[in-house]
Amino acid sequence: MYRERVFVTRKIPGNGLAMLREAGFEVDVSSKDRPLSKQELIKALRKKPYDAVLSLLTDQIDAEVFDAAPTVKIVANYAIGFNNIDLAEAKRRGVFVTNTPGGGADRVTEHTWGLILALTCRIVEGDNFVRRGKYKGWDPMIFHGIKLAGKTFGIIGTGRIGADVARRAARGFEMKVIYYDIVRNDALEKDFGAAFKRTAEEVLREADIVSIHVPLTKETTHLLGSERLAMMKRGAFLVNTSRGKVIDEAALVEALRTGKIAGAGLDVFEKEPKFAKGLTKLPNVVLTPHIASATKEARFDMARMAAENIIAALAGKTPPNAVQI
Ligand code: GLV
Repeated sequence: MYRERVFVTRKIPGNGLAMLREAGFEVDVSSKDRPLSKQELIKALRKKPYDAVLSLLTDQIDAEVFDAAPTVKIVANYAIGFNNIDLAEAKRRGVFVTNTPGGGADRVTEHTWGLILALTCRIVEGDNFVRRGKYKGWDPMIFHGIKLAGKTFGIIGTGRIGADVARRAARGFEMKVIYYDIVRNDALEKDFGAAFKRTAEEVLREADIVSIHVPLTKETTHLLGSERLAMMKRGAFLVNTSRGKVIDEAALVEALRTGKIAGAGLDVFEKEPKFAKGLTKLPNVVLTPHIASATKEARFDMARMAAENIIAALAGKTPPNAVQI
């Protein structure tokens, strides 16, 4: 009997791999505890006629990689985003591409709010101050943050995560919400009084806090460069839990240095795991290592979804989270 083969580009948490083995597949997991280079991935895929690849967001799956795996029927990305996969190439070859929305996406909302609160309540700066032995007693002059209620919260991108972040701004923090997206979100307007702006620029000009929730595409690459950053209100805050390349990081460092932007909360970076020069030296940033979806529940959920996608595709069905055929 034919046994389908699955290549997993890196060890993942949860029982997704057990599900694949229980389904009768031969499962090979990269033995390296790090992302594979493209050449390593190509070499690994050439070893056997694989039927499926379970990939991570750190794998660049392009034409050369597809060429090395002509028998593959599905690339199941273990991520919410899928900008690391060349969708046009997948389509040309009739390969399914899937992602793992759901639990992980909910967690991104919470992490986004964690960054916002850390910035506006100055939690990381205050923590450093205490640890460095600088706290000598209550002082009305130190660490003034900003109050959220009544301020304007600007969202760029109101898909599942953006809309959820907006909902918490309106409901949880009593903020006025404005948003821009290429499609209008009637529910957001009706349910939370969010105001649609016809351009991203309008959101940037009016918001006290801007949060980015767009997928990375050709159009959104450097969506926020020096020109658009200059449009932001002086003293506004910027948060990004989407993809690093959406912001020109060097331009952001400059805007943070001059105080044009009061602070930034970043979970993603333009050239991960590297940072633009000077970014990590700034006091007015809160930086996390691309962990916005990192809860045990979310990671397990993502493993289950990736496995279900592969099982469905190899049974000749359309996988539940197909973003491409
Ligand atoms: C994380 O960035 C993801 O896309 O899951």
